[in-house]
Amino acid sequence: ITVSMTFTATVAAVVYTGAIPVMVDVDPTSWTMDPSLVENAITPRTKAIVPVHLHGLMVDMEAIKSIADTHGLKVVEDAAQAHGAQRDGRNVGALGDAAAFSFYPGKNLGALGEGGAVITNSPEIADSVRLLRNWGAKEKNNPDRIGFNYRMDAIQGAILGVKLAHLEKWLERRRQVARLYDSALSALDLGKPTEAPGSRHTYHVYAVRVAQRDKRISAFDAQSIQYGIHYPVPVHLQLPYRGWGRGEGSLPVTERLAKEFLSLPIHSGLFQHDVELVAMALDDGGR
Ligand SMILES: Cc1ncc(COP(=O)(O)O)c(C=O)c1O
Repeated sequence: ITVSMTFTATVAAVVYTGAIPVMVDVDPTSWTMDPSLVENAITPRTKAIVPVHLHGLMVDMEAIKSIADTHGLKVVEDAAQAHGAQRDGRNVGALGDAAAFSFYPGKNLGALGEGGAVITNSPEIADSVRLLRNWGAKEKNNPDRIGFNYRMDAIQGAILGVKLAHLEKWLERRRQVARLYDSALSALDLGKPTEAPGSRHTYHVYAVRVAQRDKRISAFDAQSIQYGIHYPVPVHLQLPYRGWGRGEGSLPVTERLAKEFLSLPIHSGLFQHDVELVAMALDDGGR
């Protein structure tokens, strides 16, 4: 059981295992997995829950973990966007059986090429991931299982090791930029990211919900302000995944967010005047 409001990779990973992905809707306020909908989607065939910490906001993992424990399910966190996120005193990745991080260059901790990591407290899962990474082999030419070539280049590890020491500082700066956006956008009629009490959002993405998105985008283009949309087409409506979804209208919150989301520029080098320019363009585009 996972969500459709995510990057396509989350659901691809479920399909790679041979499992059938069941995509549930997200909460209209947090934009992340709605635990009550997970509970309803569980059947005797359910094996695992894959929550996605969308945009850097940690899912309510206590709720997900308690559902998983009640039904004997595994939890695999998609923490690709959420290095350093926290909730209720727990770090992202702490409550799941395993969590996957991405070090794609654009991520909050990015390599100069492809990279990623799995964290787990389970020695069995750790062993299994090590095998899968290296063509299934602990010992050269004598594989224990069918694996993949998912080895990260050593040069990426070296770069990440240096950048890791700066991560906290960069995340705190992103959070400050998010606060600047919160106040610059306070008079505008749009939906902003929320942060549940006890949460630490890491703002890999600062998305707003807007009406008239095309007009806002034109206003951004006119001023060379870059933007993104995370994500414009929910996974259950993407061509390769349609067979596993229940079609248009089946996940109404996800589908509405996909039409309204607009991701604003965010990184640790933005200042008040940058944020004000973005807010002004956003406002102009809505008139
Ligand atoms: C939520 C989510 N899951 C999975 C991935 C896949 O990560 P990678 O591109 O490192 O394989 C990404 C990012 O690309 C992502 O944003």
